[in-house]
Amino acid sequence: MESNRTFTMLKPDSIEQGFMLPILNMIQDAGFNIIALKYKKMTRDEAKQFYSIHSDKPFFKDLIKFMTRGPIVAAALEKNNAVEDFRALIGSTDPKDALDGTIRKKYAKSKGENAVHGSDSDENAAIEISFHFKNNEIFS
Ligand code: RTP
Ligand code: MG
Repeated sequence: MESNRTFTMLKPDSIEQGFMLPILNMIQDAGFNIIALKYKKMTRDEAKQFYSIHSDKPFFKDLIKFMTRGPIVAAALEKNNAVEDFRALIGSTDPKDALDGTIRKKYAKSKGENAVHGSDSDENAAIEISFHFKNNEIFS
């Protein structure tokens, strides 16, 4: 059975350009309930751990530098079919390939600086939510 939760981060490029509230509005308008929310700057160790699956990739160093250069907004979201529906809402990794109406089409600049993160599986959603939130910080 699919889970009804996913995890997102509004990446530093979104915050720097003042897109925090417009993006949160798009997320809510698409039917996601925000059940946990945090505004914080990740440490290098946190970013390395969060994106450890990409540690061998050529873009890893740039990704860590980008994700730690300013604050992010971390959120846990609830909706039926949350992981799949949220990936559809954010659009392709590279905004050039993202469909009209998606968050990345509207707000992302490049494949590296692409405005938002979305969990890619139910398993990773659960791991990522518990990475950023304690149980008593989630209001379902
Ligand atoms: P995310 O994990 O952030 O939701 O993004 P994603 O699933 O769409 O893409 P993924 O392959 O997991 O890559 C993670 C993040 O690394 C940066 N990236 N840069 N320069 C590049 O070729 C490149 N490729 C990936 C992006 O910030 C991407 O979202
Ligand atoms: Mg990913």
